[in-house]
Amino acid sequence: MRNHWSGRLGFILAAVGSAVGLGNIWKFPFITGNNGGGAFVLIYLLAILICGLPILMAEFVIGRHSQCDVVGSFSTLTPKSTFWKGVGWLNLLAAFIILSYYGVVAGWTLDYLFKSLAGAFGGKEPEVIVGMFGELVTNPTKQFIWFSVFMGLCLLAVISGVKKGLERWNKVLMPTLFILLFFMAAYAMTTSGAKEGIGFMLYPDFSKLTMTGVLEAIGHSFFTLSLAMGAMITYASYMDKNEPIYPMAIRIAFLDTVVAIVAGLAIFPIVFSVGLKPGAGPGLIFKTLPQVFATIPFGAVLAVIFFILLAFAALSSAISLLEVLTAFMIDEKKVNRKKATIFMTIAVYLAGIPSALSYSVLGKVKLLPGMEVLDSLDYIASNFMLPIGGLLIAIYTGYILDKKISQAEITEDGRSSLAIFSIWFFTIRYIAPLAMVIVLLTKIGLIDI
Ligand code: PHE
Repeated sequence: MRNHWSGRLGFILAAVGSAVGLGNIWKFPFITGNNGGGAFVLIYLLAILICGLPILMAEFVIGRHSQCDVVGSFSTLTPKSTFWKGVGWLNLLAAFIILSYYGVVAGWTLDYLFKSLAGAFGGKEPEVIVGMFGELVTNPTKQFIWFSVFMGLCLLAVISGVKKGLERWNKVLMPTLFILLFFMAAYAMTTSGAKEGIGFMLYPDFSKLTMTGVLEAIGHSFFTLSLAMGAMITYASYMDKNEPIYPMAIRIAFLDTVVAIVAGLAIFPIVFSVGLKPGAGPGLIFKTLPQVFATIPFGAVLAVIFFILLAFAALSSAISLLEVLTAFMIDEKKVNRKKATIFMTIAVYLAGIPSALSYSVLGKVKLLPGMEVLDSLDYIASNFMLPIGGLLIAIYTGYILDKKISQAEITEDGRSSLAIFSIWFFTIRYIAPLAMVIVLLTKIGLIDI
């Protein structure tokens, strides 16, 4: 018998663990602030409703019904089609590529956690703190050490299986993350930057919302829910038949969104309280925030709290990807879990070496014009593999998979009514694919906005 979650909570925490990642903590707050605050939040909520949530439910239908890994899911549900099995492979490949560079970035969070534990920021000049980041990413030895430690942690979590590994780890990681995040947000509200920070995140300035912002909201809505990378299909394959799909999906999407918004409310006030500007991407986390921690009261403690929560967010997301790969080995190649986990960790580790060396030994290598290896892989995965995967999953459940299967999966708990199924089916057939196609065509440059 396939291993299952011990209950609803175990599944929800694991799925939220996968969804809540670095994307929530630095990407969402930043794109929100830049795209008109509250106006962007409204569009983002809409994107979650019309794209993220329906595709999340589609992945739950696929995984739960087939009770298989991501490749096996497609070949079990549509045995005659090699094309759809190929889509399973595309999801698997996305998980593999993303984990290979995400593990490197996650390693940086561990380095910063140790720096903050050692009180490395206190009393340092801003230039010195900014320099620490460059020193870390250009140092191959440090890159290897932290990448190895991080992948080792992922291995430990996945090797013990669904209940004893994934579930147990997430039951510690997620509640700790929530508590630390809310604590930090409460602290942020007491600082002098509270008003400016809240305004930056939530004040709806529609004049700043552009079409690019709308597309960014759609793209982010499925990156943040870990869609099109096999994670939700695999996690749903460990779900019991009697668990209701829709109520679970909506809770996961809700918690993921709350964490993203609260992260913004925790970060911006303290950045503004010392008169700094929030930088973009990794700069915000690894350069700006440490400067803030160096000056504010209790900064040393806050730094530890922040980097623990960042490392936990990264770890719970990364283990969901390692599980995608491990489940594939177990189900398709009939290897036992121990061997499968070790094999896949090593494979991802080897594939991650170029990313780990992106800014040092391989600094001159640009896979895409002007982009180092790590940035190029992120660009290809987030901008092409995920939207294409999302589109194909929507088409699959909307047009290819027997409607009776999805209807039974979504309504059989007796609580999600036929109306919910009908709304979902309409969205997955017409609205979500349209949104994805527009995102993709703009990325390729076929439509100009
Ligand atoms: N949902 C994650 C996030 O928001 C995306 C992700 C999932 C990345 C799994 C890597 C691994 O960061």
